[in-house]
This record gives sequence, C-alpha cells and structure tokens, in this order.
Amino acid sequence: MPIESRIPVAIVGAGPAGLMLSHLLARRGIESVVVEIRSRHEIETTNRAGVLEQGAVRMLVDEGVSDRVLREGHEHEGIALRFGGHGYRIDFRRLVDAAVWLYPQQQVFTDLADARARDGGDVRFEVTDVSVEDHLTSPTLRFTDADGEQHVVRADIIVGADGSHSYCRGLVPPAERREYFTTYPYAWLGILAEAPPSADELVYVHSDRGFALLSQRTPTVQRMYLQCTPDEDLAQWPDDRIWEELIARTAGDGFALATGTITEKSILPFRSYVDETMRHGRLVLVGDAAHTVPPTGAKGLNLALADVGILADVIPRALASGDMDVLDEYAERALDRIWKVESFSYWMTQMLHLRPDGDAFDVHRQVGELRRIVTSDRGSAYLAEAYTGWAT
Ligand code: PHB
Repeated sequence: MPIESRIPVAIVGAGPAGLMLSHLLARRGIESVVVEIRSRHEIETTNRAGVLEQGAVRMLVDEGVSDRVLREGHEHEGIALRFGGHGYRIDFRRLVDAAVWLYPQQQVFTDLADARARDGGDVRFEVTDVSVEDHLTSPTLRFTDADGEQHVVRADIIVGADGSHSYCRGLVPPAERREYFTTYPYAWLGILAEAPPSADELVYVHSDRGFALLSQRTPTVQRMYLQCTPDEDLAQWPDDRIWEELIARTAGDGFALATGTITEKSILPFRSYVDETMRHGRLVLVGDAAHTVPPTGAKGLNLALADVGILADVIPRALASGDMDVLDEYAERALDRIWKVESFSYWMTQMLHLRPDGDAFDVHRQVGELRRIVTSDRGSAYLAEAYTGWAT
C-alpha cells in the first residue's frame, strides 16, 4: 500500500532552484516536499558554473541559508576581456558599484541541502518512478523513495524545478506552450586543472582561434573553457592539445598561462530556450525547466534563483486566496529579467565566439564591438550592470 499524504507544495527537482524555493516557502510558513532522482553525492560532484550575482549572494545570506559564501567565496570586482593580444579590465565597482562572487554552484547546493536538513525540510533524493497527474485541478505526485516505499502526495501546487530535460514541462501540451529557442554553431570544452590562477580575475578571450575563458575554483584548481564544435569528440583533445590551444588563444602582452594537470574534461552544449507559459493550471516551471542560456554570461543559476524569489512571494498569496490565477503574476514578473538575461547571454556569446562560417568582416565587426566596450565607460557599463545583475 502506498503512503498517502497531503502538502501545499510539491517540488520536483532538488537542484538549487527547488531547494531554495522549499527553503523560502518554509520561512513563509508553507510546507513542501522536494523529490529528486539523483543522489545528493551525484549533484555535489557535478561541475557547474561558479559566478553568483550580488542579489543571489544576498538571498543566501539574508534568507538564512548560510553565510559560507562570504567566508569561502571570492568577491570579484571586475573581469578582463582579452582580444588582439591585449587585456582590458572591466571595473564593475567603478562602473556600477557592484561585484560578483566566485562560489561554485555545487557549494550553493550543499549549503541549501544542509539548511533544509537543519530546518527539518522534507527532501527525498534517489527517488524513482516520479509521475504527476491532474495538474490542472487536483495535482497528485507519485514516487518511490530510496527505500522502495511508494508515495502518493496530494498537493495544491506542483513546481517543476527539474532542469533542462524537465519531466514536468512535458505535462504542458505542446500546443499550449509559448516556446522560443535558438541554437549556436559552437560548444565549450571545459576542463578542471590543478594549477595556480593565471590572473586575479576571470578572463574572457576573443582570438582568431576562437573563444577561451579562464575561471577559477580554488588557489590550486582552475576551471577553463575553449570554444569547440557541438559534435566535438573529446578523444581528439589530448591534454597537450588543450594546453597548446589555451596558450595560443590567450597569448600576447606577455600573458603567461599557468598550466598543470587536467583532472576532468567535458563538452558543454549551447542553447537558448524560453517557454513563456511558466504556469499551466496548478503547475509552475522554474529555472532551467522554463528557460536555458548559453554559459557565456554565467547566468543560469542566478536566473533560477531570481525565479524562485518571485515565486516565494506569489505562491503564499495564491494559496491564501485559493485563486490559482494569482500564479500568473509569476511569469509576468519573471519574464522581464528572463529576456534581459537571454539577450545578454546571446550578446556575450555572439561577440566572443568565432562563427564557423564567419568571414573576415564578421571578425573585424566583433573587434569593433569589443573596442566600443573597452574604450568607453558608457560602452562597458552595460556589460558591468548585466554581469553583476540588475536590481530588479
Ligand atoms: C565557471 O567558473 O564555471 C564559469 C565562469 C564564468 C562563465 C561560465 C562558467 O561565464
């Protein structure tokens, strides 16, 4: 016999978006259950991007998740753009009086999972057979827990926080979705390397061999990326070739890339996607389930946290009034930021990557665009404002 229960909110997906929502709702007196097919260990050991906008940092600290980000994260008050063999600093503090924090997504996840455990939150990892029925009228979530027990949960609202391959999104009939997407003729090859940092801040590189990005994890571990093709075969990228390419793309100005031992390699695909529906009956979609961005602007996690910040305000009012049309306010408020972030991520991507079909005109146009940014405060202020995150 399955175990039956009732709960106001059932959340599918225990990534940062699902856990943060569960945490915010608990602080507003609303109970939820979060189910996740992956194990906690698997999520904690998957490499994801590491840049937090200051609004995301404020949410973690002010909402009582953890202040570890302030102690173990690193505040960055700028980035470098490199092109034509020279580096140019974009000074966030001076331009927009803001900063970002380098704090990997896995750490955000760990802080949230610990906070939910500390506060007695109901989070189930390693569940199987997840299904949702009747999300238009009286949602029912079914799952089998890690011990093999079957559960039937009746909820007022179901939240799909289950990532870009979202099961929950599939509950919305395709004809009723408002989907927009674009694909890109490139991807990133990402590595983790045991090496010291090559620069104090992140370095975004445009070169005639393609894009590169130098990011950081710890004083002894660096994260770096190289533009490659979407169907790139990792077997064609022995360590020597990766270092050769990273050195060539960052060369100039006496820049010395610190190399080391590569401990991990993977290919990251690129896609921009928005489903403007975001709500269907008693189902709402958040984070990557509703929209994705290419990684160039480091926005995926930040956007997901902004979504749940809005939802934590809208859900209590929908529940209190019993009027689910209140949920429409979520998409109305979230889509403004979503499209600004889609636009910023697209802009950074097209400005810094070489198109496989690109001609010389295109490359010179990109350099003109980069010079427009680095030679004028008015030109660089947009990048600084968007990268550190809009206040609203
Ligand atoms: C990362 O540290 O993984 C990272 C940083 C900046 C980006 C993307 C990824 O734009």
